[in-house]
Amino acid sequence: MRSIAIASGKGGVGKTSFVINLALALTQYHQKVLIFDADLGLANVDVMLGISPKFDIRYVINGKLNLKEIVYSTEYDFDLIPASSGVVELTHLNSDQKILLKDQMEEVFKKYDYLLFDSSAGISENVLFFMYLAGERIVVCTPEPTSIADAYALIKVAYKNHKIKSFYLVVNMIKDETEGKRIYQQLLYVIERFLPEIKLSYLGGLPFDECVKSGIKSQVPYLKLCPESNISKKMKEMALKMLKFNPQEIMGLENFLEKLISI
Ligand SMILES: Nc1ncnc2c1ncn2[C@@H]1O[C@H](COP(=O)(O)OP(=O)(O)OP(=O)(O)O)[C@@H](O)[C@H]1O
Ligand SMILES: [Mg+2]
Repeated sequence: MRSIAIASGKGGVGKTSFVINLALALTQYHQKVLIFDADLGLANVDVMLGISPKFDIRYVINGKLNLKEIVYSTEYDFDLIPASSGVVELTHLNSDQKILLKDQMEEVFKKYDYLLFDSSAGISENVLFFMYLAGERIVVCTPEPTSIADAYALIKVAYKNHKIKSFYLVVNMIKDETEGKRIYQQLLYVIERFLPEIKLSYLGGLPFDECVKSGIKSQVPYLKLCPESNISKKMKEMALKMLKFNPQEIMGLENFLEKLISI
């Protein structure tokens, strides 16, 4: 199992749309995917998918339900653990709760190839918790200078506070490929200069596309709504790139659970 946290610093850059469509693209490549909604904001994954879950992670932390009982299947063949304020409680577990959750997570997560965490905007402890816990991290930004500055700030804090050293970058809402690569180079230049221990890899760019908004409005992922659009093709390329990364560098389920216990 690969675990990936998606974060951005700045809000509204397209994290949730990215997570949902990456999940669908990976599913189309026959991967079993679970989205863990780690955002407490308004634009939650369940809303974008048009589902109304009854239970969430809080019920698990309070010992009322088992984790497997709050895994929702979607009509797109990937599954979802919905968000709630329990996401914050998750970052402050006592050791008994951790052990209980570890066993439940092991049972649920072992069925999946990918676990994707959709984070909130900002650089809160909550966001950093999931970035630390996950084996890999994707930072999403747009060509706006404020978004690039926030992506840098997020990387810097994750490194300073949790010694996280490797990140992938996705530049969303670009006008062409050159723009995405230019922004990656800009960020890389600053990182190499001020945070030389950090490895930032370019996962790719996604174009600005009206289909994303239509998808959100109709509560259908754009990969399903406009499969032939440029953005859907790029997303499928990105998913393929993720699949081809060297598995030796990838942290598995055992390490994930060990990290949870040691946090
Ligand atoms: N590639 C794109 N082209 C056009 N619009 C986009 C694109 N990606 C995202 N958007 C739009 O940006 C808005 C924010 O998207 P989304 O909710 O996915 O961002 P977010 O980073 O998850 O936000 P938050 O920080 O609030 O969680 C939506 O209205 C969406 O339609
Ligand atoms: Mg979001």
